[in-house]
Amino acid sequence: MRFLATVHHRRKNMAKKRSTAMTDYVRIFDTTLRDGEQAPGYSMNIEEKLRMAHQLELLGVDVLEAGFAIASPGDFESVRSIAQAVKAPIVASLCRALVKDIDAAHAAVKDAVRPRIHTFLATSDLHLQYKLKMTREQALQRAVEAVKYARNLCDDIEFSLEDASRTDHDFMCQVVEAVIKAGATTVNLPDTVGYATPKEISAMVSNVMRRVPNIDKAIVSMHVHDDLGLAVANSLAGIAAGARQVECCVCGIGERAGNAALEEVVMNLRTRHDVYGVDCGVHTEEIARTAKLLSTITGVKTAPNKAIVGANAFAHESGIHQHGVMANVKTYEIMTPESVGLKKTELVLGKHSGQHAFAQRLVALGYTVDKALEQKLFAEFKVLADRKKTIEDRDIMALVETATGHVSGENDWKLVNYVVSSSNKMFSTACVTLVRGKKEVTESAYGTGPIYACIRAVEKIVKHPFSLQDYQIQAVTERRDALGEVTVKISDPRGTFRGRGVSTDIIEGSILSTLDAVNKMLDAKTSALGEGAASKVQQTFAEEDMLSGHTDK
Ligand code: KIV
Ligand code: ZN
Repeated sequence: MRFLATVHHRRKNMAKKRSTAMTDYVRIFDTTLRDGEQAPGYSMNIEEKLRMAHQLELLGVDVLEAGFAIASPGDFESVRSIAQAVKAPIVASLCRALVKDIDAAHAAVKDAVRPRIHTFLATSDLHLQYKLKMTREQALQRAVEAVKYARNLCDDIEFSLEDASRTDHDFMCQVVEAVIKAGATTVNLPDTVGYATPKEISAMVSNVMRRVPNIDKAIVSMHVHDDLGLAVANSLAGIAAGARQVECCVCGIGERAGNAALEEVVMNLRTRHDVYGVDCGVHTEEIARTAKLLSTITGVKTAPNKAIVGANAFAHESGIHQHGVMANVKTYEIMTPESVGLKKTELVLGKHSGQHAFAQRLVALGYTVDKALEQKLFAEFKVLADRKKTIEDRDIMALVETATGHVSGENDWKLVNYVVSSSNKMFSTACVTLVRGKKEVTESAYGTGPIYACIRAVEKIVKHPFSLQDYQIQAVTERRDALGEVTVKISDPRGTFRGRGVSTDIIEGSILSTLDAVNKMLDAKTSALGEGAASKVQQTFAEEDMLSGHTDK
């Protein structure tokens, strides 16, 4: 049995200052769990999406796009669970401008405190002619019908003009005016293919703000892809021209080159308030933790030079920079690490630290765990402290993220012990003992390296063949006694499963991460949200669009 993360970050001091009436307030619309999750390598299961959704709520996003409800039963269930679980943000589901899609989106979000239906239709001639095989008139009619239909179900309707940046401006204004009249409360102008320049985005938004007579009845939104590396710049250009919602993803994940990175947009608005003059409700101190959670869940590491959340984003290596920073931090630092939630540890923990000090550190790091989990984490901390002289915050975070990512069920296989023999002159051999319930099983195997041999031994014990899709190892901290964090992806015919393990011993870490993935694989009742599932769904949609002219009801 899997469990939802029992970790709940502090909720106090999180009073929101959002107000839709304020014209200097920009809504942050997070689509990490929809557009972001569509990207290969970022698929998440329902528990992972819920963990992420809770963290996005703590981050303070205004709108949380939880998924594409009609895409699959799994997507529907995820959207519904998130809609029921989070309270502060508006919860949106994407849907095409089709009755069956809108119905599914509505059914999935209707239990949210503040539900939103987000429907879309392409409006560029290119998409209309080749993808939808529709005329402009038909598209306009379809958009209006969809919005009217959705508005009868829900008060909060967003309409997106897919490929807006390549849509004729006159036609765009016509559609925007008509969908607002039909009941849309937000109108989104996406640069779907990441083609526009900031100047073009500025002209597009200004044009709509100036020429659409009822534009004051809706919020204009930006949704920009990063194909030419301009997603953040274009989103900011849209805001400067009057957009008051920006759609973005944590770490800029998303289709192809991704979407605008949430943390970059937000820190631009904060750091250059003098330029943009607008506020948003994001609690920036939650940014680092949110990015870390995404990386932990998906197993995709953040590039060290990634703006705001990369490991080097606040590191000053060069002597000249260090000298300047020591003289006055403002010489090279335009924002503080603390402002995005990166705190420096004053006190290190070690093997003599008691449970009280450990629990206090958990709280300081923003984790509130129940007693049972605290006990388990403390026991793991003690084992680690025997192997590693000083325990840093990053070690503790790695322990917490591993413990909360997956809880062991009765049916899970657990590691008892292993022995490997390895040499550069011959095959490696491994003898691994696992236990499940009361059943202990030992198997040996050989391979071209010790990790390969261990994984084969595990496969023999669990009697379920799988292939290894990806294997990554990374030191959690510096120095030789560092914890190694291993993430693996394995697959069977039903899908792909991720696993994670940490240990000061990389072979143990490798076995633990493999077991984490294997247990998930064996536990999967139905077909998993396998890698590539999202793109297969998109392909089916595209084929349906072509066949139906986007007109089925
Ligand atoms: O990129 C895009 O145009 C989209 C819309 C469906 C909002 O993701
Ligand atoms: Zn998109």
